[in-house]
Amino acid sequence: MGISDELVERLRAAEHVAVLTGAGVSAESGVPTFRDAQTGLWANYDPAELATPQAFLRNPRLVWDWYAYRRQTVEAAQPNEAHYALVDLEQHYSDFTLITQNIDSLHWRAGSRDLLELHGNISRVRCFECATYAPGWDEEGELPPRCARCGGLLRPDVVWFGEGLPDQALRLAYEAAQRSQVFLSVGTSAIVQPAASLPLIARRSGAYLIEINVEETSLSVFADCWLQDQAGTVLPELVRRVIRDIQSREEGA
Ligand code: OAD
Repeated sequence: MGISDELVERLRAAEHVAVLTGAGVSAESGVPTFRDAQTGLWANYDPAELATPQAFLRNPRLVWDWYAYRRQTVEAAQPNEAHYALVDLEQHYSDFTLITQNIDSLHWRAGSRDLLELHGNISRVRCFECATYAPGWDEEGELPPRCARCGGLLRPDVVWFGEGLPDQALRLAYEAAQRSQVFLSVGTSAIVQPAASLPLIARRSGAYLIEINVEETSLSVFADCWLQDQAGTVLPELVRRVIRDIQSREEGA
């Protein structure tokens, strides 16, 4: 399905908009997704060995090094057209909530500010024991580095399998989904809970649900509109049409 007039009109007329993004929104920046068959991280690495508290306790150095490698990848990446399109879209709403499962800071670096990071951020580290954030650390010294406060091991500030999501971000995300009139799900397989429930909560609360994904997902059948295309192509086009529509109405008013 392409970008219909109805889709543009729904977005133009909405006052409350929420967006959920996943790894697909950063794929065109060169950041690997998780579940794509050949290139996805979980096709090549075992999450049980790298992304659980048990894995960290078993082999902290291995886990630290894997995240250090991924940190380098995201620091070298640049935001793409999809990230920038969401910044442009945000300007036109007083209530616009961007919710991301990504830990790569690319939304921040594109200029998005009201951002809820459900799975943390790879650029921050905190103590495994006392949860104190570390302002910086030395990659040349003992790895993982130690917490200055309690001496515990530092870990990336990301959500691992078996861990809870940050309470406040999750609560705000639920609330935004519930009050949204249009909800966009962009570049996520919509498999990992609780993030995957947000589009469905929005739909049940009456939102018009738009999915942007190159492949069909379990969400596609529930979406009012599934745009089967790359986020970096279709999102800027959609946003351009919505903004053109808003501006032409303002000029006509
Ligand atoms: P996935 O790898 O599960 O899904 C990425 C989705 O993006 C797939 O449905 C692809 O079809 C789609 N995709 C790929 N390239 C795209 C493009 N250029 N434009 C649009 N869509 C594209 O990633 P997530 O759904 O983000 O959690 O995964 C959710 C969570 O699972 C991650 O946050 C991570 C992982 O385990 C944690 O680490 C806690």
